[in-house]
This record gives sequence, C-alpha cells and structure tokens, in this order.
Amino acid sequence: MGSGLGKLWAQKGHHVFFSFSRDPKKLAALAESSPGCRAGTPAEAVAASEVVLLSTVWAAVEEALKAAGEIKDKIVIDCTNPLKPDLSGLAVGTTTSAGEEVAKLIPYSRVVKAFNTVFAEIYHSETRLFGSRRPTMFFCGDDARAKSTVSALANEIGFEPIDAGTLACARYLEPLAMLMIQLGHKQGLGTNIALSLIHR
Ligand SMILES: NC(=O)c1ccc[n+]([C@@H]2O[C@H](COP(=O)([O-])OP(=O)(O)OC[C@H]3O[C@@H](n4cnc5c(N)ncnc54)[C@H](OP(=O)(O)O)[C@@H]3O)[C@@H](O)[C@H]2O)c1
Repeated sequence: MGSGLGKLWAQKGHHVFFSFSRDPKKLAALAESSPGCRAGTPAEAVAASEVVLLSTVWAAVEEALKAAGEIKDKIVIDCTNPLKPDLSGLAVGTTTSAGEEVAKLIPYSRVVKAFNTVFAEIYHSETRLFGSRRPTMFFCGDDARAKSTVSALANEIGFEPIDAGTLACARYLEPLAMLMIQLGHKQGLGTNIALSLIHR
C-alpha cells in the first residue's frame, strides 16, 4: 500500500518519504526509484511531511506510531484494516474502528480514513481506470480541511473521492474492505476489482 500510493503521489510531484520497514535497503531502493523521494526513520518521515500515510499491518500500528514520536498538527491518512492474523474477519468493529483507535493514539493529529477499500494491486496498476470509469475512494474524518486535502490526493491519482462522513464512519468502511477481501480472495474475483458508486 505504501509503495504503490507513494509512487503515484511522487509521479504527481509530491515529495514522498518512505519509512518503517525491517529492511532499510528496501526503503532506499524504493526512494531511488522515484524522483524527489527519500527514505528514513518514521520520526524523520513525519517531521518532513504535511500528510502521513499509515499503511502497516494492524498488529504493527502501535509500534509504527511509537517509532514516529509525537505526531502533531499533521494529517494522518489511515488505510489500515484491522484484520485478524488469519484474515478471517475484523479484530475491531461495530462500536469502534481502526480509524478511531488510531485517532486515540495520536490525539493532536487529524486522522482521515481512506484508501482502505481499494486493493494494493490497483495502486500498482498502469491506470486506475476500469474502462472509462474511475473507482470510488470513500473517505471519512472529523476535520473538513484534512478531508479536503485527502480528497484532492485521491482525485489526482485517479479516484472519484466520496466523503462518507465523520471518522466514526470508518466502522462502515472497514467492513466494506472486508467485503472486498471476501469477493477477491474467497469468491474468486481476484484483486483487480474496485467499487464504483452510481449516482442519478
Ligand atoms: N494489500 C491490500 O490490498 C490492502 C488494501 C487496503 C488496505 N490494506 C491495509 O493496509 C495496511 C498495509 O497493507 P499492505 O498490504 O501494504 O501490508 P504489507 O505489504 O505487509 O506492508 C506493511 C509494511 O509494514 C512494514 N513493517 C515494519 N515493521 C513491521 C512489523 N513489525 N510487522 C509487519 N510489518 C512491518 C513492512 O515492511 P517490511 O516487510 O519491509 O519490514 C511493510 O512495508 C494493512 O493494514 C492492510 O490491512 C491493504
């Protein structure tokens, strides 16, 4: 998720800082593959950035946030899905969500849930288009300006952004991602699928 999205934003001229790998060489190679990119520690990445993408497996979220130090006055995009280790379901939900739990860990930041309902394969594809249609990118959060920034970041890499509401709506977006996993992995549709909302 991090490498796919980071490369897409780098192509659009953003300065991307790749971080949080157990293999620093992997991060350095990633940074070298796109112009204007860097690699370093989570604390360095956060200090250098206006927007932070949290894209770790659920079990490593606390470790990653701890390694980042104090995250203050940043927009934090949470694309995690709180999957159980065997992928059989969500470890949290209904009365809270990963998005809300992340926000509790970094109370001085503005958390926006986004990018969690789209498979990583789509970010690594040549194009986001399915025929002439852009996939929908649902996002939610409690800060209007942060959501506007995230909406623009989704739009510029080829998605149709749809504001799903407050951060508590992550309670709906995370099960939606679970539906995609069910369709892609259990029902045999594969991961080159995406959601598109129809309006009239
Ligand atoms: N994959 C998808 O299609 C998809 C779609 C939507 C949402 N998501 C969500 O996005 C998040 C990231 O997914 P992903 O597929 O990008 O996962 P991933 O490929 O496993 O990437 C996780 C990253 O965290 C790093 N990491 C550092 N310390 C770690 C540790 N102790 N344990 C595990 N990883 C550690 C890994 O780096 P090293 O391995 O180099 O150490 C890796 O770069 C997850 O919460 C997932 O549910 C995934």
